Amino acid sequence: MTRRTLAVVSAGLSQPSSTRLLADQLAAATRDELVRRGSEVELHVVDLREYAHDVVNNMLTGFAPAALREVIDTVTGADGLIAVTPIFSASYNGLFKSFFDVLDSESLVDRPVLIGATGGTARHSLALEHAVRPMFAYLRSVVVPTAVFAAPEDWSDGTADGALRARIRRSAGELADQIERRPPATGPADPFALTTDFLQMLGRGDDAPVS
Ligand SMILES: Cc1cc2nc3c(=O)[nH]c(=O)nc-3n(C[C@H](O)[C@H](O)[C@H](O)COP(=O)(O)O)c2cc1C
Repeated sequence: MTRRTLAVVSAGLSQPSSTRLLADQLAAATRDELVRRGSEVELHVVDLREYAHDVVNNMLTGFAPAALREVIDTVTGADGLIAVTPIFSASYNGLFKSFFDVLDSESLVDRPVLIGATGGTARHSLALEHAVRPMFAYLRSVVVPTAVFAAPEDWSDGTADGALRARIRRSAGELADQIERRPPATGPADPFALTTDFLQMLGRGDDAPVS
């Protein structure tokens, strides 16, 4: 049985948060789909509001405090990412953008990503396409075709209505497809890993005599 890790990032600020609710439903649908296909799934859910101060400190100092470092490693080392933001002023909110700003810009290359958003009006659903998808295009991630937007009328008593449930299921299937096409993740890249041969670093090629 293949072991897969899913990182789920929610940038909702309210408590309770409709963004977190959507993130949880996307995560459950993706986990169920991967399990149905024979994988074992480990879920890591990150509520960014808990790391908001650390994210700002990282932006000011260039260094991630230990707790944020752990979150960054979890997100960049996962097989797949579910990233959900509330829409603020017709775009992702500042916390969502700041978190992805502090990641190494190479750390999510080729990573399967499912994007979602919540908003006060369905008229802003295309913010996913004009703001969130281009950000992940810059990071060279592989964003699945179905992005999931939830407006207040898509919920009744915390339950997704039929149309939203169908979108969640479709996007989860697309994320599972992308994850399955790749070998299991080996964790975050080590930024201090020695990638060059020591002799080459000393300016000697393979055929240089070793004295
Ligand atoms: C500062 C601010 C700006 C907002 N701007 C928009 C907006 O432009 N479009 C929209 O649809 N909703 C907007 N909203 C509403 C939120 O996107 C919506 O309430 C969201 O679901 C809140 O998520 P949460 O419950 O996870 O905090 C805004 C809310 C706030 C606080």
